[in-house]
Amino acid sequence: MALAVEIRDLRKRYRGGVEALLGINLEVPEGEFFGLLGPNGAGKTTTIGITTGLVRPTSGTVQVMGHDVVTDFRAARRCIGLAAQELNFDWFFSLEDLMRFQAGYYGVPPASVKERALQLFEEFGLMDKRAVKPRELSGGMKRRFQIARSLIHDPDILILDEPTAGVDVELRHMLWDYLARLNREGKTIILTTHYIEEAELLCDRVAIIDGGQIITTGSPAALVAGQNRDGLVLELAGDGAAAAAALDGYELTREEGRLTVTVSRPELQIAEIVNRVTAAGATVQDLTIHRTTLEDVFMSLTGHSIDA
Ligand SMILES: Nc1ncnc2c1ncn2[C@@H]1O[C@H](COP(=O)(O)OP(=O)(O)OP(=O)(O)O)[C@@H](O)[C@H]1O
Ligand SMILES: [Mg+2]
Repeated sequence: MALAVEIRDLRKRYRGGVEALLGINLEVPEGEFFGLLGPNGAGKTTTIGITTGLVRPTSGTVQVMGHDVVTDFRAARRCIGLAAQELNFDWFFSLEDLMRFQAGYYGVPPASVKERALQLFEEFGLMDKRAVKPRELSGGMKRRFQIARSLIHDPDILILDEPTAGVDVELRHMLWDYLARLNREGKTIILTTHYIEEAELLCDRVAIIDGGQIITTGSPAALVAGQNRDGLVLELAGDGAAAAAALDGYELTREEGRLTVTVSRPELQIAEIVNRVTAAGATVQDLTIHRTTLEDVFMSLTGHSIDA
C-alpha cells in the first residue's frame, strides 16, 4: 500500500541540546486515521514540525506522498493541511481574507477559492463570522476556523496537533464526527493527542511516543490485547486490608477501600473472588469489571501515566 508519510531514523536535537527525537520510525499508509499519543514533551509537535517542513531534522528522513520534506519541500508541503498546536493567525485580517491568503499560498485557482471557502465556513458553522477578525472569535470558533483554513487546498493529508485540547465537550464531539467523515471520504488523517479516548475512538492505528521514542505501534484493539490489564474492582467497607489478605496470590492494588484485582477474564472469576473475600469477613459494597484502556497500555509500557 502507498505510504502517505514515511519516517526513517528521525532524530532531532534542538539548539541548547534537548534531544527531542531519538531516532523514530513511522509509516502511515494512505487513507489511514493515525494517532500519535504521548505526554507533554514526548516529541509529538517536533515530529509534526519536521513532517511539515517547519523544523529541520538533525538526521533521518521524512517522505510525504513520496516527496522528501527537505529536498522536495514545496511538493511535500502542498500535500498537507496543518492545524498547528498554537493558533497562528494574522490577527488584522478577516476570516475571508485569511482563507484567500492561505489559498494563494497553496496555489488554489482563484476561480474556485470563493466557493470552496464558503463551503468550509458552512461546514464549520462560521458563515456569519466570515467578515470578522479572528480576535473576535471564541476559543472554539478559532479552533474551528484553523481546521477549516487548513483544508482550503483540499490536501491529501490532514495533520492536527492536539486539535481538541481545551475545547468543550460539544465541540470535541463535533470535531470527532467531522474528522471521522473526512477520513471515510478518503483523507489521511494524522493527529497528536494525549486524550486516550480520542485515540481509541478515532484512530485505526496509534503510535505511543514517550521521551522522543516510539514505544509501540498498533491498532487500539491490538495494543490493548497485547497488554491485558482487565480486572475486577471491589469497593469494600473499611480499608479492604482483610479482603486483600484473602486474595493473597492475585495481582492486587489497594487504595483505601478500593481493591483492584488484575486478572484475565475477570467475568469468570467473580464468584471465586467474592467468595474468598466474604469468607474472610469483608463486605463488598460495589463491584465493577475494568477493561484495559490505552492508558493502561501506556502505563504498562512506560511505567508512568500519560498525564504525569
Ligand atoms: N524550539 C525548541 N527549542 C528547544 N527545545 C525544544 C523546542 N521545541 C521543543 N523543544 C523540546 O523538545 C522536547 C519535545 O517537545 P515537543 O514540543 O515535540 O513535545 P510534545 O510531545 O508536542 O509536547 P506537548 O504535549 O506538551 O505539546 C521537549 O523537551 C521540548 O522542551
Ligand atoms: Mg506538542
